Amino acid sequence: MGTKDKDTQINYFVNSNNKNSFFIRQCTLEDLEGVITVNEKELPEDYPYFFYKSILNNFPKAFLVACSKNEKIIGYVMWRVERTPSINNLRLINKGHLVSIAVSSTYKRKGIAMALLLNSMQAIKTFKIIEYVLEVRVSNYSAINLYKKLNFKIESIKKKYYRDSEDAYYMTFKNINI
Ligand code: ACO
Ligand code: ZN
Repeated sequence: MGTKDKDTQINYFVNSNNKNSFFIRQCTLEDLEGVITVNEKELPEDYPYFFYKSILNNFPKAFLVACSKNEKIIGYVMWRVERTPSINNLRLINKGHLVSIAVSSTYKRKGIAMALLLNSMQAIKTFKIIEYVLEVRVSNYSAINLYKKLNFKIESIKKKYYRDSEDAYYMTFKNINI
């Protein structure tokens, strides 16, 4: 799915059709400003710069950006990997935790989030991910729909998860073909 640029060792995932041209690649340090701009426009959850930087340092392969033809950042996705005890036995397992995803308003509904998720979920498989997990606002119809389309299921509700006290759905997707 990805091709490798030999000079920079960055994976590029080309996703373009005639109608909507965009491409997806790994995030770089220089991209963070653009990522933060999209985040601040699209989501009430803002993070300090060092937070993005540490996610980028620790999980660069699953930190992807979507760019327009003229290299503008129009979307991003970032994940972290958590080691948690499994429910059945005391072995530690790796979970992929979706930290954040957003796409700029004018570029929505073109398949960009879907492409970001599919490519990043593939990329973090190298961590032997047993399960992908995420929280989403119960009112966030478009995001919930997106995750359902990828076969995520609502596992539980986290009451007053957000600062404004909105509840979150805890959604999970078990990785069966590991
Ligand atoms: N209404 C209904 N379903 C939707 C909508 C919508 N407005 N948007 C996306 N979907 C669902 C559909 O099933 C869609 O498939 P379809 O177009 O074939 O019907 C599918 O998701 C894929 O849509 P994409 O075009 O790939 O999604 P898009 O690029 O527009 O991005 C996103 C979706 C990320 C939710 C975008 O609306 C956004 O940035 N929202 C604000 C930020 C946000 O809420 N992020 C998620 C927070 S939770 C978290 O980060 C863990
Ligand atoms: Zn979370």
